[in-house]
Amino acid sequence: DPEKANVERPEMFDFHGVTMVHYFTDNWENVQKFQARPDDILIATYPKAGTTWVSQILDLLYFGETNPERQTTIPIYERVPFMDLLIPGVFSGKDLADNLPTTPRLIKTHFPVQFVPKSFWEQNCKIIYVARNGKDNMVSYYHFDTMNKVQPEAGTWSSYFQRFLQGKLAFGSWYDHVNGWWKKKQTYPNLHYMFYEDLIENTGREIDKLCSFLGLSPSAELKEKVLSGVQFDNMKKNQMANYSTLPVMDFKISPFMRKGKVSDWKNHFTVAQNEAFDEDYKTKIDPTLLFRDEI
Ligand code: A3P
Repeated sequence: DPEKANVERPEMFDFHGVTMVHYFTDNWENVQKFQARPDDILIATYPKAGTTWVSQILDLLYFGETNPERQTTIPIYERVPFMDLLIPGVFSGKDLADNLPTTPRLIKTHFPVQFVPKSFWEQNCKIIYVARNGKDNMVSYYHFDTMNKVQPEAGTWSSYFQRFLQGKLAFGSWYDHVNGWWKKKQTYPNLHYMFYEDLIENTGREIDKLCSFLGLSPSAELKEKVLSGVQFDNMKKNQMANYSTLPVMDFKISPFMRKGKVSDWKNHFTVAQNEAFDEDYKTKIDPTLLFRDEI
């Protein structure tokens, strides 16, 4: 019962070389033992890269025709449980995932690739990774950390900027995350690596690519339903997709569905920060991984 959530801002610490907070490590042993099924689908992202958007797309693609009540009665965080998260007595993503009644089970993780429970690899599960350009990802994560009590304190924007570059945020370095998953794609064909910017540019095209990866051929009617259901404004007003039912978030500080745009970093970065980011970026990003910070 999320109403019972009595959560406190967590501290960050080093966990197997990755900056983490206890809400995402407290259930570590159980999560590592997660038993995946071959038809499970894992949605993996660095936080704020478009997880909820892609989760809603998949939920509609798989269940929009067969089980439409689901989208109007069950919040997205229960339809697509966040495996890593444990809030004792309130929310265990691993238990929710175990008990999902649907086939396939749609499961969310923010783990860097080396933290994924081995069963997903053994079962050769399909995995969808969504990446977002670092500048916008940082801005979105900053606003999220200001309003979400299970996240560490955001602090000032300028300190946040430094911590992003140093990888000192929950789930560690954005660079390590996007690079690590990109590298995995070279050896694990069942991984579909997609970009938030592409989804913004042409949602229909990206859904087509997803469907071909998943082996789905939705009817024209279902495709229309998905396209309209996942528009930013529709998700923002949809209580079952916008996280408004979770009391750990304070929408008076910042709503979950905040802007949904590419290049909002231009409203936050100083010129000096932009130059510092670009310099640092060149030394850290895998040069074969191409992001767009404007479209
Ligand atoms: P902003 O903070 O830039 O608005 P996640 O789901 O991984 O936490 O990512 C949240 C980010 O995705 C937020 O970015 C949110 O507004 C954006 N988002 C969610 N649904 C969206 C949609 N349908 N279209 C565009 N952006 C969306």
